Parts: sequence; C-alpha cells; structure tokens
Amino acid sequence: MSANSEFQPKVFMPRAGEAPLSPIQEEILRLKKERNAVILAHNYQVEEIQRVADHVGDSLGLAYAAAETNAEVIVFCGVHFMAETAKIVNPTKTVLLPDLEAGCSLSDSCPAEKLAKYKAEHPNTYVVAYINCSAAVKALTDVICTSGNAKTIVEKVPADRDILFVPDQNLGQWVMKQTGRSMKLWPGSCYAHVLYTTRAIEKVKARFPGAPVVAHPECVEAVRDMADMVCSTEKMVGYCKSHPADTFIIVTETGMIHRLQREIPNKTFVAGPTDKCACNDCRYMKLNTVEKLRDCLRDMTPRIELPEEVRTKAYAPLKRMLDWSR
Ligand code: 13P
Ligand code: SF4
Repeated sequence: MSANSEFQPKVFMPRAGEAPLSPIQEEILRLKKERNAVILAHNYQVEEIQRVADHVGDSLGLAYAAAETNAEVIVFCGVHFMAETAKIVNPTKTVLLPDLEAGCSLSDSCPAEKLAKYKAEHPNTYVVAYINCSAAVKALTDVICTSGNAKTIVEKVPADRDILFVPDQNLGQWVMKQTGRSMKLWPGSCYAHVLYTTRAIEKVKARFPGAPVVAHPECVEAVRDMADMVCSTEKMVGYCKSHPADTFIIVTETGMIHRLQREIPNKTFVAGPTDKCACNDCRYMKLNTVEKLRDCLRDMTPRIELPEEVRTKAYAPLKRMLDWSR
C-alpha cells in the first residue's frame, strides 16, 4: 500500500463471547497436560495462542510467571529474549519457543561486544537494560527493567552513578522525563513502534473524537506526547478497564487488542494506524502460530539453551529487577 493511499481504521467492536476451541487448540491443551507444561503468551500473540495460554501478559508479568512456575516445561509464546529470560530465571525447566527466529529489532540493536567496549571506555557506568536484549547483554548489565517498572528501577539506581540505558532510546527518553534523572541512551529502537507518526494518530483521533489514546513508551516522543496514557501493555488493560470511555485508540502492536477484548468485551478498540497501514503487527511476534505451538509441544523442540556462565551473570541483574519491583 502506498503512503498516500487511504484505508479504513481497524475497529474492534464489543463482542458477545468467544468461538469454541478448534481441534488444534484442543490438541495443544491435551499435549500441555501430558508434558506438564505451562504456556506463557505475550499480549502481542495471535488470539488463537492467547486462548490456550495459562498466562497472557507483558514482559514483567511473564518473567514472574516463568520464575514461579512448578511445571516441568515452559512454552514461551513471545520472542527469543523473553524465552531466554524464562531460562535464566528458572534454569532447571525445559524452555521451548515455537519459532527460534522470533527475534526483536531492539535486542539486535545492542550487540554484547559493543556494550562491552563502551563499558571498558566508561568504567563508572551503571548499565540499566530494558529486558528486550540478549542474555549476553544482560550478563554485562547492573539491573534490568521492563516498560512496566522502568521508572521504579531507575529511581533506585545510586545517585552518584552515571547511567547508560540500553537498548531503547525512546523508552529511555520517556523514563528520563518521568524521573528527572539524566541518562546516556543507546541508539536502538523498536522498528514497529517507530512507525507510528503524529500525522497518522491525528487522523484517527479526528475519526474518534473523545477516545483516549493509549500508547506504548517505545513510540517516539511526538507520538507519546499525543497520548492520554503511556504505559506497558499490561497497564493498558487496567487503564481501559477503569476509564469511563467506551472507545480507545491503542497505539501498540495489534495483538494487544485481543487481550483487551477478552478482558473488556463491552468496549471498542481502534488499532493505532501507521501512515501505511490500519494496524501494526510485529513481524517477529507473529512468527509463532498455533501449528508451531502444537509442534513444539509434541516434539519438545526448539529449546532455549544457555552457557551456564552467561546464565548466572545474566541472572544477577534480572533478580535485582524482580526484587526491586515487587
Ligand atoms: P511490554 O513489556 O510492555 O509488554 O512490552 C514488550 C515489547 O516488546 C513491546 O514492544
Ligand atoms: Fe521487539 Fe518491537 Fe517486536 Fe516488541 S514489538 S518484540 S520491541 S520488535
């Protein structure tokens, strides 16, 4: 579709209930029991996956769920760094990711070697890493944060330390505004969230006057400034539930709207458009499908494996985050 072509906003109306589960979804539930597995799904997963998951949530909620589960197998329906996080916090479990190619542009933007070089050149640096990074990067950091707890975490960093925030410059900039703490920002970004523009959001706002705009902090500042609420995907659920409005414009990956519809079936959600499309799917998140989920539970592969040395080093800053944000 060209940048100038017109398209209709994608509107998700209130709905009465959910369709019965499909044979493949039933098969997944049966396999899950046989394998003593727990299915963790990120809010951006397709609805078919969200419906068979034991926990659907944001990076923070799923990290706690992974740390606390008693199941023998964790199937992580999300992207690679999320499944790695599950393995780091609960290493005796078998951790499966339906598609190993499910990466993340933010994670890719911060290679461990580059961060190691920066640290060597700036020895007083305290590294706060957004959870969207590899285990090798986590192993080089002091504390991890998610979009759900970034403000709380940064506020706890000792005042005499220079902070480097990796890898998302947009989340970092938002946290600087929230906390008043100055930080050096790694120049990474989410390829999907930076597609939102003020022009596209202005247009959809004009179509739905009065509908609050809810945006993820990975959006650029000009878009965040147009939002009524900027928060993690999990906090979006609470905001839309308690707000009196009946229609919301959701400026984050479109899978989020499945979660919102399931939790708040009586309200209307409009997908935040980009200049080119009425919705915005993360190409990595959408690599997972119900078929791949069924296959990975059946075949017990692909698995996440980590060298123990990297895992222990990456565990320390993750544990600090889990403790600091309780
Ligand atoms: P949340 O932790 O807010 O769900 O964000 C994860 C993510 O990858 C956003 O693009
Ligand atoms: Fe990474 Fe962006 Fe996809 Fe989230 S939406 S997983 S930050 S590429």
